[in-house]
Amino acid sequence: MLAAHAIGIGAGPVTSFSRAAVAVALRLPEGWVPELVVCLGHPRPGGPAPIRGQPHLTWRDLTTWVPPARCPGADAPEPPQSDP
Ligand SMILES: Cc1cc2nc3c(=O)[nH]c(=O)nc-3n(C[C@H](O)[C@H](O)[C@H](O)COP(=O)(O)O)c2cc1C
Repeated sequence: MLAAHAIGIGAGPVTSFSRAAVAVALRLPEGWVPELVVCLGHPRPGGPAPIRGQPHLTWRDLTTWVPPARCPGADAPEPPQSDP
């Protein structure tokens, strides 16, 4: 993914997919189970700027906090107030 990014190609991992279908499509040997697919593509024009080169990023810039009220059944703690 870093190599793709380095040449301007977007890359994103996904783990929600049919392991059986991917195993068939890739003709994986018996007993092999694909665990992760890396999607590659050209970023759309006008999309978010690459992270690299943006000064003073913290983990808060790279994460999205979803309040528990929007996640029924979730009992998530509040995010820490200070940066580690
Ligand atoms: C280990 C891992 C597994 C992921 N699995 C999925 C997935 O199954 N489906 C999905 O939509 N995004 C998944 N994501 C998130 C995507 O890679 C991607 O970050 C997300 O779709 C947001 O893309 P965007 O920032 O370009 O909008 C996963 C991320 C990680 C780190």
